[in-house]
Amino acid sequence: MSFSISPELLAQSTPFYHYDLALLDRTLAALQQAAKPRGFQAHYALKANVNLPVLARIKAAGLGADCVSGGEVQRALDAGFAPDHIVFAGVGKSDAEINRALAADIWCFNAESGEELQVLNALAGAQGRTARVALRVNPNVDAHTHPHITTGLEANKFGISLADLPAVVAQLSSLPSVELVGLHAHIGSQITDLTVFADLSHKLNELQTWLADQGYTLPHLNVGGGLGIDYHHPDENLIPDFEGYFSMFEKHLVRRPGQQVHVELGRAVVAQCGTLLSRVLYMKQSQQTQFAILDAGMTELMRPALYGSYHHIQNLSNPDGDRYIYDVVGPICESSDSFGKELALPRTQRGDLVAIRSAGAYGEVMSSGYNLREKAAAVYVG
Ligand code: LLP
Repeated sequence: MSFSISPELLAQSTPFYHYDLALLDRTLAALQQAAKPRGFQAHYALKANVNLPVLARIKAAGLGADCVSGGEVQRALDAGFAPDHIVFAGVGKSDAEINRALAADIWCFNAESGEELQVLNALAGAQGRTARVALRVNPNVDAHTHPHITTGLEANKFGISLADLPAVVAQLSSLPSVELVGLHAHIGSQITDLTVFADLSHKLNELQTWLADQGYTLPHLNVGGGLGIDYHHPDENLIPDFEGYFSMFEKHLVRRPGQQVHVELGRAVVAQCGTLLSRVLYMKQSQQTQFAILDAGMTELMRPALYGSYHHIQNLSNPDGDRYIYDVVGPICESSDSFGKELALPRTQRGDLVAIRSAGAYGEVMSSGYNLREKAAAVYVG
């Protein structure tokens, strides 16, 4: 079934984000159905979408919160996530952000360098606390995804490289206010070749064995997020392949008795429940191209401009018309402000209402006020 909106929303001024919370609930149920029986604990990566009604459903489904800034830690607390279900990751945590998270007594910091461990130790010591820490390793596993969203390769800025790990671990004995509780890795996003999670598991197995030899048995592992979604066929695949994802780790990751294993999924949780609604402002025929100019642009959804990402576009005003070829663009003063070139869409005209699908993750959160644009509204159904 393709996307539709309720008639009363036809009067809503565009552009706006439309969130289907009933679909979010179904997605969360499928996630937990795949995670829980296999003994995995799911966290949600807030960076994908931080809207409070969305977070409320995610929290109600029993997920924890993965945060990458002080603002996200605060948002998770505001949304009611228990501090011991909050993780703080990020390659550049400021002292103020660390202090705030320490004071809130969150479950764990994912530390990304030896220098960060020293800062955590000093700040925790000054507060008379101990910082629980998981070391984020850079496992040098290729996620086979877009280069801009690959994070687990040596060339990326993320994590502690395997070559540096022995020195970082050796440092721990001199850091009394830091307690090593786990290992963390995240290799990239929008991953559709799930075999890379087997590669990641094998790397983590080796590292755990090595750490055990150093006298560290870890109560906690965090294997990151990254499960991709089907941007091309949202209606056929509204629910991501959680079964495939968790069964990869179930099969390949060696878990120690009593060990907690976290995942931190963002996109797979929220992408399909969000749609950007926009109206066609103008049709413009240039020498070579028929443009459909929308009232939404890269300021509302930056992914196509930034990564060349595809988002399925539906003309809700003329769903079944004969198809023509259009470049669908926004109103922003940048040539990269485009939602797609040479798209085959039903005949389109000024005033048509257009749905840009799979926009719930990394859509609204990445919007900007460039060109002094007003922030698009969000409406929630379900
Ligand atoms: N954990 C860490 C440490 C991460 O860096 C990320 C995403 C996640 C979890 C969640 O990954 P997910 O399950 O959503 O793939 N703006 C880009 C995506 C950037 C992802 C950054 N890190 C996009 O629009 O495709």
